[in-house]
Amino acid sequence: MVETPRSLDDVDWPLRTERLVIRRATADDLDATWSFRRLPEISEWLTAAPETREEYAEKFLEADRLAVTLVIELPGADPAVIGDLMVAVEDAWAQREVADQAAGVQAELGWVIHPDQQGHGYAREAVEATIRMCFQDLGLRRLTAGCFSANEASWRMAEKLGMRRETATVRGSLHRSGTWMDGYSYALLADEWTPPAG
Ligand SMILES: CC(C)(COP(=O)(O)OP(=O)(O)OC[C@H]1O[C@@H](n2cnc3c(N)ncnc32)[C@H](O)[C@@H]1OP(=O)(O)O)[C@@H](O)C(=O)NCCC(=O)NCCS
Repeated sequence: MVETPRSLDDVDWPLRTERLVIRRATADDLDATWSFRRLPEISEWLTAAPETREEYAEKFLEADRLAVTLVIELPGADPAVIGDLMVAVEDAWAQREVADQAAGVQAELGWVIHPDQQGHGYAREAVEATIRMCFQDLGLRRLTAGCFSANEASWRMAEKLGMRRETATVRGSLHRSGTWMDGYSYALLADEWTPPAG
């Protein structure tokens, strides 16, 4: 029996959609991604808000981080890189005796689009293609995403993608502003997913 590939290294890159090209990130994408990740309206919701390019570079260039980062290109745009995605393949929780069957079966997703390019459906188009890749190419069984509940653009997009709200925590996550905020987590199982037409 052929083993299902469960690594991004096994995927036939890049992914192409009607308007976008999605590929693995490389060290050369440092400045393009810094150009939007440095903006307060973006970093407001992200795990880290580095203050300098050097600080950002230290994290972005880590092998583990690059390995789970994709960039979204809009051919013809200047610059072409308009956003980035995270696909972090991970183990599902399992009891010890069956833990080997739960290794690498799911992935956490993340998404960022340059503010100048938001509102055109690019995030949805890119993440839909990424979901297809995760289920059809990687053979994953479950995808997850999480955000602060105040990040309405993000959780509404998760819902547009067909993801299901699984948890709503109350003041469970500390924002760098010092406020304990509510949070949501979303998930989508392979057998709940309906491939979008096309
Ligand atoms: C979340 C984000 C990626 C959406 O990017 P985008 O390209 O503007 O999203 P799309 O145009 O593809 O919109 C898809 C859906 O998301 C929802 N959405 C997007 N922006 C929204 C907003 N400002 N308010 C409410 N819903 C919004 C809508 O449901 C939209 O579908 P619709 O246009 O049919 O109503 C973008 O706002 C972003 O980069 N935010 C900052 C980074 C971030 O918070 N990342 C997630 C961290 S958890």
